[in-house]
Amino acid sequence: MTEVLVIGAAGKTGRAVTRALLARGVTVRAAVRPGSSSAVYAGVPGPGTDAAPEVHTVPVDLESGAGLPVAMAGVSGVYHLAPNVHPDEVGIARRVAEAAVAEGVSRFAFHSVLHPDDASMPHHLRKAEAEREIRSFVRTATVLRPAAYHQNLVDAALAGRMVVPYSLDSAFTNVDLDDVAEVAALVLCDGRLEDETLDLAGPEALTVREMAARATAVLGRPVEAAELSRDTWTTGPGASLTAQARDDLLAMFRSYDRDGLVGGVGTLRDLLGREPRTWTDVLADAATA
Ligand SMILES: NC(=O)c1ccc[n+]([C@@H]2O[C@H](COP(=O)([O-])OP(=O)(O)OC[C@H]3O[C@@H](n4cnc5c(N)ncnc54)[C@H](OP(=O)(O)O)[C@@H]3O)[C@@H](O)[C@H]2O)c1
Repeated sequence: MTEVLVIGAAGKTGRAVTRALLARGVTVRAAVRPGSSSAVYAGVPGPGTDAAPEVHTVPVDLESGAGLPVAMAGVSGVYHLAPNVHPDEVGIARRVAEAAVAEGVSRFAFHSVLHPDDASMPHHLRKAEAEREIRSFVRTATVLRPAAYHQNLVDAALAGRMVVPYSLDSAFTNVDLDDVAEVAALVLCDGRLEDETLDLAGPEALTVREMAARATAVLGRPVEAAELSRDTWTTGPGASLTAQARDDLLAMFRSYDRDGLVGGVGTLRDLLGREPRTWTDVLADAATA
């Protein structure tokens, strides 16, 4: 790989993928939202580090497609991830895939989600549709389907209170975002994974109640698990979202109540060639960071 374009590079996932590509010596072209205040983070791979000289930012508006042809020119691979619960996930996927094909980009990977065909979650179904849309344009796209990240709950655990708007007793095989990013970099650097669909789940199924108990043991201080009522979530953390994003997340919480989010660890273990990192591993690292 000479240079890889990372879409959504200033966000949580994009920065992890950038870090993993840099670790493999790959130069990153980081697509950032024009005028975004977070764009500065795209070139800053980790906390306490300086902007990496191997990261070049380019403005791309995913909603209109403006900037995509320039961003794609001359790159050898694209890592596409969409903004969270975006209503036009499918249109964004089409614009990115079309631009990649038009510029002759040779390798394409898409960041989907575990169980995209789960009809109880509209934003999962949009990911399934985006996968199909991409594969209708790109001859050999690789699809990564990660479980929920351990990192979603780390700050709450460190603060001593894990409050979630779904059942504390549903099971999740959460995954380390950096393990997922390592696979993303592998996919872009290794042609053998072209056209594959990869479920990426963590090594153990834990409920939030069990995660809090583990956190109490790892951190050596009490970490409480608490369930937030849906009404309190809707008028509190959910109030600043668009109605569509709020409805998407409420549907996800209902699905989590019923089924949690669970997948198999085999693919991730095989691709990493080692044990994937556990909730305990991630938390212990975060506590000493
Ligand atoms: N969190 C999980 O556990 C999990 C698990 C599996 C899959 N995923 C998927 O991972 C993807 C990324 O999630 P994330 O949490 O990393 O998202 P994120 O932190 O919100 O990052 C998304 C990035 O996209 C940028 N963006 C938003 N609108 C844009 C536009 N119109 N044009 C260009 N850029 C735009 C944002 O820019 P600004 O910074 O300016 O807002 C942000 O930097 C999502 O599709 C999600 O479904 C997440």
